[in-house]
Order: sequence, then C-alpha cells, then structure tokens
Amino acid sequence: MSNNFGDFQIGVYFDAVNGVTSRYPFDAEAVQRKAAEALPDWVYRYVSAASGDGRTQQENIDAYKRYGIIPRMMLSPPERDLSIDLFGKHLDSPIFMPPIGLVGLCSPDFQGDIAAARASAATGVPFSLSTFSQAPMEEVIKHTGDTPGFYQLYLPNDRELAAGLIHRAEASGYSGLLVTVDSWSLGYRPMDLEHGNFPQFRGFCMQNYYSDENFTKHLEKAPHEDQPAALRHYAKIFQHPLTWEDLRWIRTQTKLPIAVKGIQHPDDARLAIDNGADVIYVTNHGGRQANSGISTLELLPGVAAYPEGSRENQVGRIPYPADRDR
Ligand SMILES: Cc1cc2nc3c(=O)[nH]c(=O)nc-3n(C[C@H](O)[C@H](O)[C@H](O)COP(=O)(O)O)c2cc1C
Repeated sequence: MSNNFGDFQIGVYFDAVNGVTSRYPFDAEAVQRKAAEALPDWVYRYVSAASGDGRTQQENIDAYKRYGIIPRMMLSPPERDLSIDLFGKHLDSPIFMPPIGLVGLCSPDFQGDIAAARASAATGVPFSLSTFSQAPMEEVIKHTGDTPGFYQLYLPNDRELAAGLIHRAEASGYSGLLVTVDSWSLGYRPMDLEHGNFPQFRGFCMQNYYSDENFTKHLEKAPHEDQPAALRHYAKIFQHPLTWEDLRWIRTQTKLPIAVKGIQHPDDARLAIDNGADVIYVTNHGGRQANSGISTLELLPGVAAYPEGSRENQVGRIPYPADRDR
C-alpha cells in the first residue's frame, strides 16, 4: 500500500466516472448508520452501549473538538511518512485496530475476527484479537498476512488457563500482548441490561476458552454438548481483580512485549513500567466500563509527560486534569 493513504480517493472518483459507486461509508456518521442497518439489533446494542448515562463515551468524542491542527506549508515531501515503531515492529501508519470483543459477530457469517484480520493484511494496520473471539486465536492470526497482530488478554483467575492463553498467543505468532486492566468486573450498561443482552452468556465469542484444554478439562462434556456448564465455569474464572503482582507474573510467562491497557493516571503508568510493561495503553475503554471518567485525549498529555526518575520526587509536579479545577 502507498504511504499516501488518502490516495484511495482517486480510485473512488475514477470508479464513479465508470459508473461504479462506492459501497463504503466515508465518515463516522455513515459508518454508524450502515452498522445500525446491517447488524442484528442485539449486536448493535452491545457494540454501541456505554456505561451509565454515557457521559464518558460522549466526553471522548467531544474532547476532539477542543483540539486542532495548525498545518505547515511548502514542506511536505511527495511521499508522506506516517510510520512508527511499536512492539519492535515498523508500521506504515500510527494506528492499529483495538481489541473489540464481539467483532466476531459484526460480519454476516459471524466470523468478524477473521474478516478484521484480513482487513489488517490488506491495509498493514495491525489487528488486535480480543480474548472474546468467534474463532480461536491460532485460526485468526493465519489471516493477518505480513501485518503484525496483537493478542488482548483478560487475565482469568486460573493461572494454568492464563499461562495457556499467553503461551498460545506467543506460539501462534502474535507480536504483542495487550493486558487489559480496567475490566475485571462488568461495566454497568443500561442499554444491554434493559434487554438482558450479554452475548457471551449465550455462548458467543468464547472460542479462545473453548479451544483451551486448561478450560475444557474442568468440564464433564465438551462445551458444545453442555453449553450451560461451560458458561458456569467461565463465570467462575472471569472476574479477577488485578494487582501489580499479576503483571509481574505475566512478565515471567512471555518474551512478547506487553502493553498495559486501561491506564489513565501517570502514577499507574510508572507502576506499570516498573512492574514489567513495555507500552502504556492510555484508554478509558471508550466509556463502556466506567462512567464519569475524563476523556482519554485529555488524559494522554499527563501520562506522556510523566518524567523519568523516582515517583517520590515527581508526584505532584505533573499538570493533570483530574487534579485541576475543571
Ligand atoms: C463493542 C466493544 C467491545 C470491546 N471489547 C474489548 C475487549 O474485548 N477487550 C478490550 O481490551 N477492550 C475492548 N473494548 C475497548 C476498545 O478496545 C477500546 O479501548 C475502546 O473502543 C476505546 O477506544 P480507545 O481505547 O482508542 O480510546 C471494546 C470496545 C467496544 C466498543
């Protein structure tokens, strides 16, 4: 793919001259409208739901309106270079697909993880596979081509299963581990609660568990033969309140670079690095997990500016939105 990602527009206009209109949406509103038309109502609900009254979800969007770009002129080389290095890989663009549990349900054949992996192969934009997927991780990574893929871990409270998931990700060719630390309990999502809509409890997107012997060995029958028993076991192992000790343990389990996903405070960023993280993934989970948080965009400078050196010397010096009058 060309480094000038915007060049795809030229193809769109040429196609139109030949009478071919693009079937793809071009702005976020159109993406949302088309998704609402295409997806079953329960999938759309799950994908779009926010925690509480949705304040933090909306804050994430609104924050972008408060920032702008001042472009400089007469400087650009003809080939723009947006490339970055991440997880020891050189990437053509500074973006990657975040882990979306249930993206597996967002394609007509309910194999959306594979569809996203193929999109990753075609575009060079890395795909992150959620713990919740419709196909096992080994199958999905086969479709990412030359583009690196990342595996997202929800750490279960069963160390054998946790180690199994981590080792499988490393052995099957994922390039980084995203350890999500903000979701060890369920987010409060009224839109889903109204309809009792939690697709995992109906057996969707459980393939990373169902394909793992450290999960199935606790069951009397295969998951597809006794789904309720499999889900009962899942309910026992999923909720694990994480500590920094857990991160140190994960560090001992893999040589893969580790990103800690869900960091919002500079002190946590420092602790994550001190306890084995290679990358800090600043996010509030899109406002799905907890409400009343500050937008990720506003949090980012405080975390990024966290100075080197001992915590004792630095804490309190960092301008941080949570500590200011807002
Ligand atoms: C439908 C949906 C499912 C998600 N599932 C996961 C998940 O399984 N694991 C995870 O770490 N994050 C999950 N997220 C959070 C996203 O990875 C991401 O953090 C969020 O969309 C906000 O984007 P941002 O982190 O770029 O601000 C999910 C988000 C959505 C909208």
